[in-house]
Amino acid sequence: MIEAIGLSKRYGDVPAVRDVSFRCEPGTVTGFLGPNGAGKSTTMRMICGLTPPTGGAATVKGVPYRRIANPGRHVGVLLDAAAQHPGRTGREVLTLTADLLGVERARVGRMMETVGLSPKAARRRVGGYSLGMRQRLGIAQALMGDPSVLILDEPANGLDPEGIFWMRTLLRDFADRGGTVLLSSHLLREVEAVADRFVVIAGGRIAAQGTKAELLTAPGGMVARGLDPEALEGALRRAGLAAEPDGAGAFAVRATAEQVGRAAAEAGVVLLELRQASGGGLEELFMTLTSGPQETR
Ligand SMILES: Nc1ncnc2c1ncn2[C@@H]1O[C@H](COP(=O)(O)OP(=O)(O)OP(=O)(O)O)[C@@H](O)[C@H]1O
Ligand SMILES: [Mg+2]
Repeated sequence: MIEAIGLSKRYGDVPAVRDVSFRCEPGTVTGFLGPNGAGKSTTMRMICGLTPPTGGAATVKGVPYRRIANPGRHVGVLLDAAAQHPGRTGREVLTLTADLLGVERARVGRMMETVGLSPKAARRRVGGYSLGMRQRLGIAQALMGDPSVLILDEPANGLDPEGIFWMRTLLRDFADRGGTVLLSSHLLREVEAVADRFVVIAGGRIAAQGTKAELLTAPGGMVARGLDPEALEGALRRAGLAAEPDGAGAFAVRATAEQVGRAAAEAGVVLLELRQASGGGLEELFMTLTSGPQETR
């Protein structure tokens, strides 16, 4: 399993990740969701021992990643599909990985088949690969050591619809066989169908986490509509509640119904509608959680 405990990272005076804690259990796929710049890659790099945290710690299978002997046999990692030597062929990349990890070379062909990289494509230099082909190669590399944990940063980026479906199936099977998967995306749609749990990060902080059902019933996202939208916005602001216009005359508010109701009453604003943002499903909730003021410093 993967565990992050109070992970924090500061770059100069920019807090990229702040007090991030979550667990990924065997047999599950965790979707790590957040908009661009939210801190997903930084968190994943800290989990993999590539970026030293300024606070907190992370373990994979109970120990810090750096303490795992021959980590590729336990943890498959794909953090940046573009980080490949452009002059090597796909087959060379995978053969080197197999040798490095000490697995039989026969696995190279099998992994190519698993990720849908044709023998013809595997003979081409990686420099000429499309982004989707690089992602497939990176996933083959991550799977080479037959790991029980997978950590993938935006693996669906660049994949076509068929590729996204293929990856979903692969990750689901991996988890169903007892594996642990942490996969990030800035698009809810990419992970919604495959993830058992979600960790939502915004502005470096965890905005919410849980199963889909837990997220949809959790307080934190309300939609409020007032007779006088400007007066309502002012009332919410004065009450210190983050409100975002939803483009249809209402506001998405990160607060409970009681907080919104009290704020409106105090300002004498007539509420026409007040409901959980989850009426619009996970997508609306995701937007509510990740929009609004994101103090990055
Ligand atoms: N090496 C670095 N030096 C300085 N700042 C950094 C560095 N790496 C990341 N950051 C900053 O940390 C914040 C989080 O970046 P990060 O790459 O973790 O976000 P992300 O969620 O992966 O975004 P994306 O969806 O765009 O990949 C950003 O404000 C970014 O500018
Ligand atoms: Mg990133």
